[in-house]
Amino acid sequence: MTGPSDNLPVTGGVATGALVTRALALRLLVSVLDRHNLLDEAFERVVAGTDLEARDRAFVRRLVTVTLRRLGQLDAVIGHFLDRPLKGSARRISHILRLGAAQLLFLDTPPHAAVATMVELAGRERSPALRRLKALVNAVLRKISREGAALVARQDAARLNTPDWLWQSWQTRFGPATARKVAAAILDETALDLTLHPAADRDALARRLDALTSPTGGLRLNARGRISDLPGYHEGLWWVQDAAAALPAQILAPRPGETVLDLCAAPGGKTAQIAAAGARVVAVDQSPRRMARVRDNLQRLGLTADLIAADGAAVPLDTAVDRVLLDAPCTATGTLRRHPDGKWIKAPADVAAMADLQARLLAAAVDYLKPGGTLVYCVCSLEAAEGPDQIARLLASGAPVERIPVCSREVHGLGEAILPEGDIQTLPFHGSGMDGFFISRLRRL
Ligand SMILES: C[S@@+](CC[C@H](N)C(=O)[O-])C[C@H]1O[C@@H](n2cnc3c(N)ncnc32)[C@H](O)[C@@H]1O
Repeated sequence: MTGPSDNLPVTGGVATGALVTRALALRLLVSVLDRHNLLDEAFERVVAGTDLEARDRAFVRRLVTVTLRRLGQLDAVIGHFLDRPLKGSARRISHILRLGAAQLLFLDTPPHAAVATMVELAGRERSPALRRLKALVNAVLRKISREGAALVARQDAARLNTPDWLWQSWQTRFGPATARKVAAAILDETALDLTLHPAADRDALARRLDALTSPTGGLRLNARGRISDLPGYHEGLWWVQDAAAALPAQILAPRPGETVLDLCAAPGGKTAQIAAAGARVVAVDQSPRRMARVRDNLQRLGLTADLIAADGAAVPLDTAVDRVLLDAPCTATGTLRRHPDGKWIKAPADVAAMADLQARLLAAAVDYLKPGGTLVYCVCSLEAAEGPDQIARLLASGAPVERIPVCSREVHGLGEAILPEGDIQTLPFHGSGMDGFFISRLRRL
Protein backbone atom coordinates (compact mmCIF):
# COMPACT_ATOMS: atom_id res chain seq x y z
CA MET A 1 0.00 0.00 0.00
CA THR A 2 1.50 3.32 -1.01
CA GLY A 3 1.21 6.09 1.54
CA PRO A 4 -1.36 8.43 -0.07
CA SER A 5 0.75 11.54 0.40
CA ASP A 6 3.93 9.98 -0.92
CA ASN A 7 3.78 12.09 -4.06
CA LEU A 8 3.55 15.49 -2.36
CA PRO A 9 6.33 18.13 -2.45
CA VAL A 10 9.70 16.85 -1.42
CA THR A 11 11.90 18.12 1.42
CA GLY A 12 15.22 16.42 2.15
CA GLY A 13 14.49 13.70 -0.42
CA VAL A 14 11.19 12.59 1.15
CA ALA A 15 7.67 13.88 0.48
CA THR A 16 6.52 16.02 3.43
CA GLY A 17 3.12 14.34 3.66
CA ALA A 18 4.74 10.91 3.68
CA LEU A 19 6.93 11.95 6.58
CA VAL A 20 3.99 13.39 8.52
CA THR A 21 2.00 10.18 8.28
CA ARG A 22 4.98 8.05 9.39
CA ALA A 23 5.81 10.45 12.24
CA LEU A 24 2.21 10.20 13.48
CA ALA A 25 2.35 6.42 13.18
CA LEU A 26 5.51 6.44 15.32
CA ARG A 27 3.81 8.57 17.98
CA LEU A 28 0.89 6.14 18.06
CA LEU A 29 3.15 3.11 18.33
CA VAL A 30 5.05 4.72 21.23
CA SER A 31 1.75 5.59 22.90
CA VAL A 32 0.43 2.02 22.63
CA LEU A 33 3.56 -0.06 23.21
CA ASP A 34 5.48 2.12 25.67
CA ARG A 35 2.66 3.87 27.50
CA HIS A 36 0.03 1.15 27.22
CA ASN A 37 -2.69 3.41 25.83
CA LEU A 38 -5.50 1.97 23.70
CA LEU A 39 -4.99 2.70 20.01
CA ASP A 40 -8.49 4.20 19.64
CA GLU A 41 -7.82 6.68 22.41
CA ALA A 42 -4.29 7.48 21.24
CA PHE A 43 -5.60 8.02 17.69
CA GLU A 44 -8.27 10.38 18.98
CA ARG A 45 -5.63 12.42 20.84
CA VAL A 46 -2.80 12.34 18.32
CA VAL A 47 -4.48 12.32 14.90
CA ALA A 48 -8.06 13.56 15.24
CA GLY A 49 -7.01 17.18 15.90
CA THR A 50 -4.69 17.38 12.86
CA ASP A 51 -5.75 18.64 9.44
CA LEU A 52 -4.71 15.38 7.83
CA GLU A 53 -6.85 14.31 4.88
CA ALA A 54 -9.15 11.32 5.36
CA ARG A 55 -7.01 9.01 3.21
CA ASP A 56 -3.86 9.96 5.14
CA ARG A 57 -5.64 9.29 8.42
CA ALA A 58 -6.72 5.94 7.10
CA PHE A 59 -3.13 5.16 6.08
CA VAL A 60 -1.77 6.05 9.54
CA ARG A 61 -4.41 3.92 11.19
CA ARG A 62 -3.80 0.99 8.89
CA LEU A 63 -0.02 1.16 9.22
CA VAL A 64 -0.18 1.09 13.03
CA THR A 65 -2.90 -1.57 13.09
CA VAL A 66 -0.94 -3.88 10.78
CA THR A 67 2.26 -3.26 12.75
CA LEU A 68 0.51 -4.25 15.99
CA ARG A 69 -1.23 -7.21 14.36
CA ARG A 70 2.02 -8.60 12.96
CA LEU A 71 4.40 -7.39 15.69
CA GLY A 72 5.81 -10.83 16.50
CA GLN A 73 6.60 -11.59 12.86
CA LEU A 74 8.11 -8.15 12.32
CA ASP A 75 10.36 -8.46 15.36
CA ALA A 76 11.54 -11.89 14.26
CA VAL A 77 12.46 -10.57 10.80
CA ILE A 78 14.17 -7.47 12.21
CA GLY A 79 16.02 -9.61 14.77
CA HIS A 80 17.34 -11.78 11.96
CA PHE A 81 19.13 -8.80 10.42
CA LEU A 82 20.48 -7.23 13.63
CA ASP A 83 23.84 -8.37 15.04
CA ARG A 84 22.56 -7.74 18.57
CA PRO A 85 19.20 -6.55 19.91
CA LEU A 86 18.64 -2.80 20.22
CA LYS A 87 18.95 -1.68 23.83
CA GLY A 88 16.13 -0.03 25.83
CA SER A 89 17.27 3.52 24.99
CA ALA A 90 16.99 2.72 21.27
CA ARG A 91 13.37 1.61 21.60
CA ARG A 92 12.19 4.36 19.26
CA ILE A 93 14.54 3.00 16.61
CA SER A 94 12.96 -0.44 17.10
CA HIS A 95 9.56 1.13 16.48
CA ILE A 96 10.85 2.86 13.33
CA LEU A 97 12.16 -0.48 12.07
CA ARG A 98 8.82 -2.15 12.86
CA LEU A 99 6.87 0.48 10.92
CA GLY A 100 9.31 0.23 8.02
CA ALA A 101 9.16 -3.57 7.95
CA ALA A 102 5.35 -3.53 8.14
CA GLN A 103 5.20 -1.35 5.04
CA LEU A 104 7.67 -3.54 3.17
CA LEU A 105 6.20 -6.89 4.13
CA PHE A 106 2.48 -6.38 4.71
CA LEU A 107 1.39 -3.14 3.03
CA ASP A 108 3.11 -3.24 -0.35
CA THR A 109 4.52 0.26 0.08
CA PRO A 110 7.10 0.75 -2.68
CA PRO A 111 10.44 -0.14 -1.06
CA HIS A 112 12.06 3.22 -1.81
CA ALA A 113 9.20 5.07 -0.07
CA ALA A 114 9.20 2.78 2.97
CA VAL A 115 12.97 2.89 3.43
CA ALA A 116 13.50 6.59 2.69
CA THR A 117 10.75 7.80 5.01
CA MET A 118 11.84 5.68 7.94
CA VAL A 119 15.52 6.60 7.49
CA GLU A 120 14.53 10.26 7.39
CA LEU A 121 12.47 9.80 10.55
CA ALA A 122 15.43 8.23 12.36
CA GLY A 123 17.60 11.13 11.18
CA ARG A 124 15.21 13.56 12.88
CA GLU A 125 15.40 11.94 16.32
CA ARG A 126 16.22 14.40 19.08
CA SER A 127 19.02 12.35 20.61
CA PRO A 128 22.31 12.39 18.64
CA ALA A 129 22.88 8.76 19.65
CA LEU A 130 19.58 7.75 18.03
CA ARG A 131 20.23 9.92 14.97
CA ARG A 132 23.44 7.97 14.40
CA LEU A 133 21.35 4.80 14.10
CA LYS A 134 19.92 6.14 10.84
CA ALA A 135 22.54 4.14 8.95
CA LEU A 136 21.45 0.98 10.74
CA VAL A 137 17.78 1.65 9.87
CA ASN A 138 18.80 2.06 6.25
CA ALA A 139 20.86 -1.15 6.17
CA VAL A 140 18.27 -3.30 7.97
CA LEU A 141 15.28 -2.08 5.95
CA ARG A 142 17.13 -2.58 2.68
CA LYS A 143 17.90 -6.16 3.66
CA ILE A 144 14.27 -6.69 4.67
CA SER A 145 13.07 -5.33 1.36
CA ARG A 146 15.26 -7.90 -0.45
CA GLU A 147 15.06 -10.97 1.79
CA GLY A 148 12.22 -10.34 4.26
CA ALA A 149 9.38 -11.90 2.26
CA ALA A 150 11.20 -15.27 2.09
CA LEU A 151 11.62 -15.24 5.88
CA VAL A 152 7.95 -14.35 6.39
CA ALA A 153 6.89 -17.26 4.19
CA ARG A 154 8.58 -19.69 6.62
CA GLN A 155 7.24 -18.11 9.82
CA ASP A 156 4.61 -19.55 12.17
CA ALA A 157 2.50 -16.39 12.03
CA ALA A 158 -0.19 -17.51 14.47
CA ARG A 159 2.32 -18.36 17.21
CA LEU A 160 4.68 -15.43 16.67
CA ASN A 161 1.94 -12.80 16.84
CA THR A 162 0.30 -14.17 19.99
CA PRO A 163 1.71 -13.27 23.42
CA ASP A 164 2.64 -16.31 25.53
CA TRP A 165 -0.07 -15.79 28.15
CA LEU A 166 -2.85 -15.67 25.57
CA TRP A 167 -1.47 -18.66 23.67
CA GLN A 168 -1.41 -20.61 26.94
CA SER A 169 -4.87 -19.44 27.96
CA TRP A 170 -6.41 -20.48 24.62
CA GLN A 171 -4.58 -23.81 24.56
CA THR A 172 -5.95 -24.61 28.01
CA ARG A 173 -9.50 -23.58 27.19
CA PHE A 174 -9.95 -24.66 23.58
CA GLY A 175 -7.23 -27.28 22.98
CA PRO A 176 -4.23 -26.88 20.61
CA ALA A 177 -6.02 -27.09 17.25
CA THR A 178 -8.77 -24.56 18.05
CA ALA A 179 -6.36 -22.25 19.87
CA ARG A 180 -4.20 -22.14 16.75
CA LYS A 181 -7.22 -21.38 14.58
CA VAL A 182 -8.18 -18.53 16.92
CA ALA A 183 -4.64 -17.10 16.82
CA ALA A 184 -4.58 -17.35 13.01
CA ALA A 185 -8.03 -15.79 12.58
CA ILE A 186 -7.15 -12.68 14.56
CA LEU A 187 -4.57 -11.86 11.91
CA ASP A 188 -7.30 -11.56 9.28
CA GLU A 189 -8.63 -8.29 7.95
CA THR A 190 -12.13 -7.54 9.19
CA ALA A 191 -15.27 -6.76 7.26
CA LEU A 192 -17.67 -4.03 8.37
CA ASP A 193 -20.89 -5.42 9.87
CA LEU A 194 -24.04 -3.36 10.22
CA THR A 195 -27.26 -3.89 12.15
CA LEU A 196 -30.30 -2.50 10.37
CA HIS A 197 -32.97 -0.20 11.75
CA PRO A 198 -36.33 -2.01 11.49
CA ALA A 199 -37.55 0.79 9.21
CA ALA A 200 -34.76 0.17 6.68
CA ASP A 201 -35.50 -1.48 3.35
CA ARG A 202 -33.01 -4.29 3.60
CA ASP A 203 -32.67 -5.19 -0.07
CA ALA A 204 -32.42 -1.59 -1.23
CA LEU A 205 -29.80 -0.84 1.41
CA ALA A 206 -27.79 -3.96 0.57
CA ARG A 207 -27.70 -2.77 -3.05
CA ARG A 208 -26.70 0.78 -2.11
CA LEU A 209 -23.93 -0.49 0.16
CA ASP A 210 -22.89 -3.37 -2.10
CA ALA A 211 -23.31 -5.59 0.97
CA LEU A 212 -24.02 -9.24 1.70
CA THR A 213 -25.92 -10.71 4.64
CA SER A 214 -23.77 -11.04 7.78
CA PRO A 215 -23.68 -14.38 9.65
CA THR A 216 -26.16 -13.08 12.23
CA GLY A 217 -28.65 -11.39 9.94
CA GLY A 218 -27.21 -7.90 9.46
CA LEU A 219 -25.26 -6.62 6.46
CA ARG A 220 -21.56 -7.21 5.79
CA LEU A 221 -19.45 -5.08 3.49
CA ASN A 222 -15.83 -4.41 2.69
CA ALA A 223 -15.83 -0.67 3.16
CA ARG A 224 -12.79 1.48 3.88
CA GLY A 225 -12.88 5.13 4.80
CA ARG A 226 -15.26 7.20 6.85
CA ILE A 227 -18.31 5.40 8.21
CA SER A 228 -20.39 8.57 8.05
CA ASP A 229 -19.82 8.77 4.27
CA LEU A 230 -21.63 5.46 3.68
CA PRO A 231 -25.18 5.47 2.25
CA GLY A 232 -27.89 5.43 4.91
CA TYR A 233 -25.73 6.72 7.77
CA HIS A 234 -27.30 10.16 8.08
CA GLU A 235 -30.75 8.69 7.51
CA GLY A 236 -30.17 6.50 10.58
CA LEU A 237 -30.85 3.29 8.66
CA TRP A 238 -28.12 1.23 10.35
CA TRP A 239 -25.42 1.18 12.98
CA VAL A 240 -22.02 -0.49 13.05
CA GLN A 241 -22.08 -3.69 15.05
CA ASP A 242 -19.98 -6.82 14.65
CA ALA A 243 -22.02 -9.89 13.70
CA ALA A 244 -21.25 -11.57 17.05
CA ALA A 245 -22.06 -8.41 19.01
CA ALA A 246 -25.58 -8.49 17.55
CA LEU A 247 -26.30 -11.87 19.19
CA PRO A 248 -26.74 -10.96 22.91
CA ALA A 249 -29.71 -8.63 22.32
CA GLN A 250 -31.22 -11.13 19.85
CA ILE A 251 -30.94 -13.86 22.49
CA LEU A 252 -32.43 -11.54 25.13
CA ALA A 253 -35.43 -11.19 22.75
CA PRO A 254 -37.11 -8.15 24.34
CA ARG A 255 -40.83 -7.64 23.58
CA PRO A 256 -42.68 -4.40 22.93
CA GLY A 257 -43.76 -2.70 26.14
CA GLU A 258 -41.31 -4.55 28.42
CA THR A 259 -38.81 -2.68 30.57
CA VAL A 260 -35.22 -3.71 29.87
CA LEU A 261 -32.20 -2.65 31.87
CA ASP A 262 -29.04 -2.35 29.74
CA LEU A 263 -26.38 -2.25 32.42
CA CYS A 264 -23.18 -1.35 30.56
CA ALA A 265 -24.62 0.42 27.59
CA ALA A 266 -22.06 2.65 25.89
CA PRO A 267 -21.59 3.25 22.99
CA GLY A 268 -25.08 1.83 22.60
CA GLY A 269 -25.19 -0.80 19.86
CA LYS A 270 -27.20 -3.18 22.00
CA THR A 271 -29.30 -0.38 23.50
CA ALA A 272 -30.34 0.48 19.94
CA GLN A 273 -31.33 -3.14 19.22
CA ILE A 274 -33.48 -3.31 22.36
CA ALA A 275 -35.10 0.07 21.70
CA ALA A 276 -35.72 -0.92 18.07
CA ALA A 277 -37.58 -4.01 19.33
CA GLY A 278 -40.09 -1.69 21.01
CA ALA A 279 -39.03 -2.17 24.63
CA ARG A 280 -38.54 0.67 27.10
CA VAL A 281 -34.80 0.72 27.74
CA VAL A 282 -33.08 1.99 30.85
CA ALA A 283 -29.49 2.33 29.66
CA VAL A 284 -26.80 2.63 32.31
CA ASP A 285 -23.09 3.27 31.95
CA GLN A 286 -20.55 4.41 34.48
CA SER A 287 -18.87 6.81 32.08
CA PRO A 288 -20.75 10.08 31.43
CA ARG A 289 -18.44 10.72 28.47
CA ARG A 290 -19.33 7.40 26.87
CA MET A 291 -22.98 7.93 27.75
CA ALA A 292 -22.94 11.04 25.55
CA ARG A 293 -22.12 8.72 22.65
CA VAL A 294 -25.17 6.58 23.44
CA ARG A 295 -27.32 9.71 23.31
CA ASP A 296 -25.82 10.83 19.97
CA ASN A 297 -26.13 7.37 18.44
CA LEU A 298 -29.76 6.95 19.51
CA GLN A 299 -30.57 10.41 18.23
CA ARG A 300 -29.19 9.62 14.79
CA LEU A 301 -31.26 6.43 14.72
CA GLY A 302 -34.47 8.11 15.95
CA LEU A 303 -34.61 5.76 18.96
CA THR A 304 -35.06 6.56 22.62
CA ALA A 305 -33.92 5.23 25.99
CA ASP A 306 -33.69 6.51 29.56
CA LEU A 307 -30.02 7.22 30.14
CA ILE A 308 -28.41 6.97 33.55
CA ALA A 309 -24.70 7.53 34.22
CA ALA A 310 -24.09 5.30 37.24
CA ASP A 311 -22.34 2.23 38.57
CA GLY A 312 -24.20 -0.75 37.17
CA ALA A 313 -24.17 -2.37 40.61
CA ALA A 314 -26.04 0.55 42.20
CA VAL A 315 -28.81 1.60 39.82
CA PRO A 316 -31.67 3.45 41.53
CA LEU A 317 -34.76 1.54 40.28
CA ASP A 318 -38.33 1.82 41.62
CA THR A 319 -39.45 -1.60 40.41
CA ALA A 320 -37.95 -4.84 39.18
CA VAL A 321 -37.53 -5.15 35.40
CA ASP A 322 -38.54 -7.74 32.81
CA ARG A 323 -35.10 -8.25 31.30
CA VAL A 324 -31.50 -7.29 31.99
CA LEU A 325 -28.62 -7.21 29.55
CA LEU A 326 -25.20 -7.19 31.18
CA ASP A 327 -22.60 -6.59 28.46
CA ALA A 328 -19.86 -6.43 31.04
CA PRO A 329 -16.55 -4.59 30.77
CA CYS A 330 -13.85 -7.13 29.90
CA THR A 331 -10.36 -7.61 28.49
CA ALA A 332 -11.90 -7.72 24.99
CA THR A 333 -9.62 -10.53 23.81
CA GLY A 334 -12.42 -11.53 21.45
CA THR A 335 -11.94 -8.33 19.45
CA LEU A 336 -8.21 -8.59 18.75
CA ARG A 337 -8.80 -8.77 14.98
CA ARG A 338 -9.91 -5.15 15.02
CA HIS A 339 -7.98 -4.08 18.11
CA PRO A 340 -4.57 -5.80 17.96
CA ASP A 341 -3.23 -3.24 20.48
CA GLY A 342 -4.99 -5.33 23.13
CA LYS A 343 -2.50 -8.15 22.60
CA TRP A 344 0.38 -6.00 23.82
CA ILE A 345 -1.24 -3.89 26.53
CA LYS A 346 -3.42 -6.44 28.35
CA ALA A 347 -2.03 -8.93 30.87
CA PRO A 348 -3.32 -11.78 33.05
CA ALA A 349 -3.77 -9.31 35.94
CA ASP A 350 -6.37 -7.50 33.79
CA VAL A 351 -8.35 -10.72 33.41
CA ALA A 352 -8.43 -11.13 37.19
CA ALA A 353 -9.43 -7.50 37.78
CA MET A 354 -12.18 -7.67 35.16
CA ALA A 355 -13.46 -10.98 36.54
CA ASP A 356 -13.94 -9.35 39.98
CA LEU A 357 -15.87 -6.44 38.46
CA GLN A 358 -17.98 -8.79 36.31
CA ALA A 359 -18.91 -10.91 39.34
CA ARG A 360 -20.02 -7.78 41.22
CA LEU A 361 -22.16 -6.58 38.29
CA LEU A 362 -23.60 -10.05 37.70
CA ALA A 363 -24.79 -10.39 41.31
CA ALA A 364 -26.48 -6.98 41.06
CA ALA A 365 -28.03 -7.84 37.68
CA VAL A 366 -29.91 -10.78 39.24
CA ASP A 367 -31.34 -8.49 41.93
CA TYR A 368 -32.86 -6.08 39.38
CA LEU A 369 -35.02 -8.81 37.78
CA LYS A 370 -38.65 -9.73 38.35
CA PRO A 371 -39.27 -13.42 39.11
CA GLY A 372 -39.41 -15.11 35.70
CA GLY A 373 -37.38 -12.27 34.16
CA THR A 374 -34.51 -12.93 31.74
CA LEU A 375 -30.87 -12.02 32.18
CA VAL A 376 -28.32 -12.16 29.37
CA TYR A 377 -24.69 -11.92 30.46
CA CYS A 378 -22.05 -11.39 27.78
CA VAL A 379 -18.42 -10.39 27.32
CA CYS A 380 -16.35 -9.94 24.15
CA SER A 381 -13.65 -12.07 25.72
CA LEU A 382 -12.17 -15.50 25.04
CA GLU A 383 -10.96 -15.97 28.61
CA ALA A 384 -12.66 -18.64 30.73
CA ALA A 385 -12.47 -16.51 33.88
CA GLU A 386 -14.62 -13.81 32.25
CA GLY A 387 -17.13 -16.14 30.61
CA PRO A 388 -18.07 -19.69 31.63
CA ASP A 389 -16.39 -19.44 35.05
CA GLN A 390 -18.59 -16.45 35.95
CA ILE A 391 -21.79 -18.35 35.20
CA ALA A 392 -20.58 -21.55 36.89
CA ARG A 393 -19.75 -19.57 40.05
CA LEU A 394 -23.07 -17.71 40.01
CA LEU A 395 -25.05 -20.94 39.66
CA ALA A 396 -22.95 -22.67 42.34
CA SER A 397 -23.50 -19.75 44.73
CA GLY A 398 -27.20 -20.56 44.99
CA ALA A 399 -28.27 -17.30 43.30
CA PRO A 400 -31.99 -17.49 42.36
CA VAL A 401 -31.39 -18.15 38.64
CA GLU A 402 -31.42 -21.06 36.22
CA ARG A 403 -29.79 -21.31 32.80
CA ILE A 404 -31.99 -21.18 29.69
CA PRO A 405 -29.86 -22.93 27.06
CA VAL A 406 -29.62 -21.23 23.68
CA CYS A 407 -30.44 -23.34 20.64
CA SER A 408 -28.90 -23.32 17.19
CA ARG A 409 -31.95 -21.66 15.59
CA GLU A 410 -31.46 -18.63 17.86
CA VAL A 411 -27.90 -18.10 16.62
CA HIS A 412 -28.58 -18.37 12.89
CA GLY A 413 -27.43 -22.01 12.80
CA LEU A 414 -23.99 -21.24 14.25
CA GLY A 415 -24.05 -24.59 16.02
CA GLU A 416 -20.28 -24.65 16.55
CA ALA A 417 -20.65 -21.65 18.88
CA ILE A 418 -22.96 -23.50 21.30
CA LEU A 419 -21.22 -24.87 24.41
CA PRO A 420 -22.40 -28.17 25.96
CA GLU A 421 -24.22 -26.29 28.78
CA GLY A 422 -26.17 -24.17 26.28
CA ASP A 423 -24.11 -20.99 26.55
CA ILE A 424 -22.53 -19.41 23.47
CA GLN A 425 -18.89 -18.80 22.66
CA THR A 426 -18.32 -17.35 19.23
CA LEU A 427 -14.74 -17.51 17.98
CA PRO A 428 -12.96 -15.23 15.50
CA PHE A 429 -13.06 -17.88 12.75
CA HIS A 430 -16.80 -18.62 13.07
CA GLY A 431 -19.15 -17.46 10.34
CA SER A 432 -16.33 -16.35 8.02
CA GLY A 433 -15.07 -14.01 10.74
CA MET A 434 -16.64 -12.43 13.82
CA ASP A 435 -15.70 -11.23 17.29
CA GLY A 436 -15.32 -13.73 20.10
CA PHE A 437 -18.32 -13.35 22.42
CA PHE A 438 -19.36 -15.39 25.43
CA ILE A 439 -23.14 -15.24 26.04
CA SER A 440 -25.24 -16.91 28.71
CA ARG A 441 -29.00 -16.63 29.27
CA LEU A 442 -30.53 -17.08 32.72
CA ARG A 443 -34.03 -16.93 34.18
CA ARG A 444 -34.75 -15.37 37.58
CA LEU A 445 -36.51 -17.88 39.84
C1 LIG B 1 -18.34 -3.81 26.57
S1 LIG B 1 -18.67 -2.13 26.79
C2 LIG B 1 -20.38 -2.05 26.46
C3 LIG B 1 -20.76 -2.03 24.99
C4 LIG B 1 -22.23 -1.74 24.77
N1 LIG B 1 -23.08 -2.64 25.48
C5 LIG B 1 -22.61 -1.76 23.30
O1 LIG B 1 -23.18 -2.72 22.82
O2 LIG B 1 -22.36 -0.78 22.60
C6 LIG B 1 -18.60 -2.01 28.54
C7 LIG B 1 -19.08 -0.69 29.13
O3 LIG B 1 -19.13 -0.86 30.55
C8 LIG B 1 -18.92 0.41 31.13
N2 LIG B 1 -18.63 0.17 32.55
C9 LIG B 1 -17.45 -0.18 33.13
N3 LIG B 1 -17.63 -0.35 34.45
C10 LIG B 1 -18.92 -0.11 34.71
C11 LIG B 1 -19.72 -0.14 35.89
N4 LIG B 1 -19.20 -0.45 37.08
N5 LIG B 1 -21.02 0.17 35.79
C12 LIG B 1 -21.58 0.49 34.60
N6 LIG B 1 -20.88 0.53 33.44
C13 LIG B 1 -19.57 0.22 33.51
C14 LIG B 1 -17.82 1.02 30.29
O4 LIG B 1 -17.85 2.44 30.40
C15 LIG B 1 -18.18 0.51 28.89
O5 LIG B 1 -18.89 1.50 28.21
